[in-house]
This record gives sequence, structure tokens and C-alpha cells, in this order.
Amino acid sequence: MGNNLLQGKRGVIFGALNEMSIAWKVAERAVEEGAKITLSNTPLAVRMGTTNALGEKLNAEIIPADATSVEDLKTVFERSQEVLGGKIDFVLHSIGMSPNVRKKRTYDDLDYEMLNTTLDISAVSFHKMIQTAKKMDAIEEGGSILALSYVAAQRTFFGYNDMADAKSLLESIARSFGYIYGREKNVRVNTISQSPTMTTAGSGVKGIENLYDFANKMSPLGNASADECADYCIVMFSDLTKKVTMQNLFHDGGFSNMGMSLRAMNQYEKGLDDYKDEHGKIIYG
Ligand SMILES: NC(=O)c1ccc[n+]([C@@H]2O[C@H](COP(=O)([O-])OP(=O)(O)OC[C@H]3O[C@@H](n4cnc5c(N)ncnc54)[C@H](O)[C@@H]3O)[C@@H](O)[C@H]2O)c1
Repeated sequence: MGNNLLQGKRGVIFGALNEMSIAWKVAERAVEEGAKITLSNTPLAVRMGTTNALGEKLNAEIIPADATSVEDLKTVFERSQEVLGGKIDFVLHSIGMSPNVRKKRTYDDLDYEMLNTTLDISAVSFHKMIQTAKKMDAIEEGGSILALSYVAAQRTFFGYNDMADAKSLLESIARSFGYIYGREKNVRVNTISQSPTMTTAGSGVKGIENLYDFANKMSPLGNASADECADYCIVMFSDLTKKVTMQNLFHDGGFSNMGMSLRAMNQYEKGLDDYKDEHGKIIYG
């Protein structure tokens, strides 16, 4: 049951691919809280994924767009204002992809074309989104713009690869644009740094099951789920957080401030074997 936290607000949600997607849960919660929304994803994702089913369920128009294309982003904000009947109050950037991770290129053997693509899709697209909306004056005074990040932006996690660089850039864009957009239009720009979550993008991270389990054992409150992340996004889109901007907000059960927990220490004791690949070669993990 909603509390009408977003009653009368208009939102654009990027990145709902399937029921596991964090953006999917945010879209459901936003509508439950009284918002009217549009959804956007790549043309391919719209064709292959189940975004259409979500659109029908929530009575939300789907506007296909590659978030690296400024032209496509213009179309999203133009069309969203038309169908929603006014300026946009909130935007969710829930987009990430690394071809280097997909192709199993390690961080010391990156393909630089692929690195450009990683940064463009996972970080620069956030800048493009905000700049496009700002030039069109598409965001309502006091609006809220959010992107999803991960603690690998601050600390190194085995296998997170060039996505760590993308997340650092993403968080920096939130600060830099938060300053400009806040000063001019009271628009808030923040990132939420979410726990490991079992989604399509999440399952691309090397060893996600172990990472998930480790984070869960380290965090006093346990890992935050996609549904809980959606709750946090709703609060950030609502009028209850009007003075929160330029922040990277950890939503991780306490993980980011932990050094070592008893549960993680006990687990570690059980497995001190050298890490070896299938050929017996030690992995410097
Ligand atoms: N799953 C996790 O463990 C976790 C943890 C912290 C942060 N995040 C972040 O949350 C966000 C959402 O990921 P998710 O876990 O819900 O996975 P997901 O796979 O459901 O969502 C990723 C989305 O990005 C979209 N996308 C990829 N390339 C695009 C492009 N060029 N233009 C527009 N959209 C594009 C995909 O179609 C997909 O909908 C990502 O930024 C991710 O890095 C995820």
C-alpha cells in the first residue's frame, strides 16, 4: 500500500529490463505512490525483454532510446512531457553495461574501444540525460534525478573491472551537475550505492554469488534487496528529501563502513586454499 508520496508527480524511468531489474521495482513503487511515469530502454531490450508487460501493467508508455544518443534522449523527454502532461519531477538512471566484462577481458588487458563504450553507457549517459533535459527545461523546479552506483567506485573489488571506473565517473557527474542544477533550478542530483543484487546486470559480475554472500555476512543489516532500493528511490524522489543533493547515498545494510564482521571472519577461516584456475594456475585475486 502506498502513502501518496509521489502523488501528482511525473517521472521517467530508464533501465527496466525484466522483473529482477531494480528499475522495474522502482517503476512499480512509483506508480503505487501516485506518480505517472514513462519507461525507457534500448530498442533491443524493449524487443527482447519484458518491458512491454510492465508498461501495460502500469499504464506507462515505453519510449525506446539508446541512452548514449542525445537525439534519443531528446525524444524521451519530449514524448514524456506530452504523455504525462507537463514537466518531469523525477528521473531514474538505472543503466549499466561493460563489454570488457562481457568478453571476459581482465582489467590489465582492457580493450579501449570497449572501455569507451562502458564509460559512455554506464556513466556519460547520465551526463547526457541531465544536460539534454536541462537544455529542454524539461525538469520541474525542485525535481529529483537519481542514478544507481556501487561501492567499487571507492574501493577495489575483484572482477568489477572497468565498471569501477564508470561508477566513479557516474558519482562525480552527480556532484558536478548537482551543483549547477541545484543552484539554477533547485533540482537534486544524487546516486544511490546499492548492495550486490541478483539481476541481469548483477549476474555479469564475476563471482556474484560469493560477493553477494560476503557482503551479506559483512553487513549488520544484511544486503539491501531491489525492493528496498526502490523504497529508497521513492523517498529520494519525494518532497521529504528536498535538501539532499550531490550525494552518493549508501544503501547497503552498513557494508561500506565495515572492516570485518565475525560472520565473515568465521567463513574466511573455512577456505584458505590457494586460488587456482582450472589449469592449477594461481589467480592473484
Ligand atoms: N545488480 C547489482 O548488484 C547492482 C549493485 C549496485 C548497482 N547496480 C546498478 O543498478 C543499475 C541497474 O542494474 P540492474 O542490476 O537492475 O540490472 P539490469 O540488467 O536489470 O539493468 C541494466 C539496464 O541497463 C540497460 N541498458 C544497457 N545499455 C543501455 C543503453 N545503451 N541505453 C539504455 N539502457 C541500457 C539494460 O537494457 C538494462 O535494462 C545499474 O547501473 C547497475 O550498475 C546494480
